[in-house]
Amino acid sequence: MGWLLSLNVRPALTGGARGGVVKNESDALVCHELPQARWPARDEAARALLFQPLRVGATTLEQRTWVPAMVPWRATDDGFVTRENLDWYARFAEGRPGAIVVEATGVRDIPSGPLLRIGHDRFVPGLRELVAAVRRASGGRTRLFIQIIDFLSVKRRPEKSKYFARFLNLEDRHRRALASATRDESWTKAGDASVRSFLAEAADELIEKVLDARELETLQKGYRERVTDTHLAHVEELPRVLPRIFADAARRAREAGFDGVELHYAHAYTMASFLSALNDRADGYGGTREMRVRLPLEVFAAVRAAVGADYTQPKVGAAVYPYTGESGYECMPTVLSDARGPFGRSLPLVAAIKRAVNDEGFATPVVAAGGISTFDQAEGVLRRGEADIVGAARQSLADPDWFLKVKLGRGGEVRRCTYTNYCEALDQAHKQVTCKLWDRAALDEPGVERSSDGRRRLLPPKWEGK
Ligand SMILES: Cc1cc2nc3c(=O)[nH]c(=O)nc-3n(C[C@H](O)[C@H](O)[C@H](O)COP(=O)(O)O)c2cc1C
Ligand code: SF4
Repeated sequence: MGWLLSLNVRPALTGGARGGVVKNESDALVCHELPQARWPARDEAARALLFQPLRVGATTLEQRTWVPAMVPWRATDDGFVTRENLDWYARFAEGRPGAIVVEATGVRDIPSGPLLRIGHDRFVPGLRELVAAVRRASGGRTRLFIQIIDFLSVKRRPEKSKYFARFLNLEDRHRRALASATRDESWTKAGDASVRSFLAEAADELIEKVLDARELETLQKGYRERVTDTHLAHVEELPRVLPRIFADAARRAREAGFDGVELHYAHAYTMASFLSALNDRADGYGGTREMRVRLPLEVFAAVRAAVGADYTQPKVGAAVYPYTGESGYECMPTVLSDARGPFGRSLPLVAAIKRAVNDEGFATPVVAAGGISTFDQAEGVLRRGEADIVGAARQSLADPDWFLKVKLGRGGEVRRCTYTNYCEALDQAHKQVTCKLWDRAALDEPGVERSSDGRRRLLPPKWEGK
């Protein structure tokens, strides 16, 4: 069996507006129509590049269709695979895509809520079952990868009173700032309790004069560790420990039977934070671009060494929500978007990455994803040589059978994603992810598994027409 090692890197494109922030006139939001869909007949689909096999290192995808990682919030609170996880991935596998990537899975053995974990050997049996469920449901046709991720600590946004009573590390500089802001020198000698209770009741403008930028961020958004917090021993040691932690996780993935791993190097997570231009660590792992890519490359090399040379690398390409800023916006844009719209907007970058990879003499396959939901879009990407494989996350969530329907010449039956991100809102609220197009359908059908609040079905109805 061949093993695949892939990278998920999401470089921010220019512009972008999210959360109501419109940067300039050309970024003004427009509601975009879905692209017109023309569905091929079965014989045209049979000739399409989209449905031709592709060799990826030592493994082969039966077709160039790909379901990217999507966290469904269905693991146990201690990170084990559940029956709901098995059913979820099996349901995607029934549509027989070339590959499925299992959701972002934590590489460490630390609590992280109902997200899958792979930070200890005890997680391997559950993951092995997951591999078996996908093999069974796809008749062995779908290759299965797992995305592995590290993240630093984030805390929920605190109550103002709690923050000042317990979390603020009160120092003399706060007293001096308070005295100067209120023009009342007596604050420089005030006791802790009175300073804390005064600040808890104070207006935002005053608080902004007393707290430093980091303290304000903690108050307004919740505490968040940074890779530059090298005064914390566990942050300082990251370059020494992460390569092994990732490598061990990848070894477990291999033991569980996955066809490969995808390294999560995007968004607000640890590896992307090392890549960030804001990373100014002074220990040789920050500052210049060469130093910032150092740890991500060392992790990659350690994983490669742990899993062997028969891996390949295809894709480069109310806690604080990780999909923030431009990389968040570019990741899952909705129909309410800037002038460039949400459909295939990352393709110029993907094509540039593919060109750079190929120009260096590598045949490493590159996956394109982002707003692709019609046959012509997908086939066009491959025909124009912009990527080697086409991924569709939300369209596959809306209709896990869509690739199969297109292949069988029954594209007219595809349930089309509307790109309005109801699913992303559920993800953001850490609720079990479903799609608005099917989660209230036939709720009374016998045997329908429901979400914890009982209001939604967890899986789309079967496609009876197969
Ligand atoms: C509910 C949901 C969960 C997601 N979880 C992940 C994840 O765990 N890891 C990741 O790299 N991307 C995640 N994504 C992003 C998708 O993999 C994909 O890149 C993005 O949705 C753009 O593709 P699309 O337009 O085909 O949906 C998620 C997307 C959605 C909608
Ligand atoms: S919830 Fe909306 S954006 Fe998400 S998959 Fe369904 S239709 Fe698409």
